[in-house]
Amino acid sequence: MAMQYSDAVMDHFTNPRNVGEIEDASGCGTVGNAVCGDIMRIYLDIDDDGIIRDAKFKTFGCGAAIATSSMATELVKGKTVQEALEVTNKAVMEALDGLPPVKVHCSLLAEEAIHAALWDYAEKNGIKIEGLEKPVSDISEHDHGHVELVDSEEDL
Ligand code: FES
Repeated sequence: MAMQYSDAVMDHFTNPRNVGEIEDASGCGTVGNAVCGDIMRIYLDIDDDGIIRDAKFKTFGCGAAIATSSMATELVKGKTVQEALEVTNKAVMEALDGLPPVKVHCSLLAEEAIHAALWDYAEKNGIKIEGLEKPVSDISEHDHGHVELVDSEEDL
């Protein structure tokens, strides 16, 4: 069973980074997948220059969801809000040296949780983040659209 996971996935699953919460976070986003029942919450601390100073997560979910939350929070730290939008599920999967096909949806949870936290930050500050669409709280309804998005990015 462990054989289908990369060393990076196993590392982030057994030793997840950034577990916890941020009090008075600049943005907090929670998303779930009603099909598998997993839930992920991401907290962002964003400074006045729009730089993500800290990121934490709480995930009630499978090992891949924990590994992707760990990696996603690592990837967004130090980035601008705009750069954080580039931390897509594909970027998270690449950083983890891949995920088995049945676990791709777990990385979508990470992307959507980041988007939800950024959306919350934008709403709290009355700003608009270019390219950020209103996140959904249940990604299982939108799996198909995301899969198409991943396919089209393959050409880049
Ligand atoms: Fe659903 Fe991993 S099984 S997030």
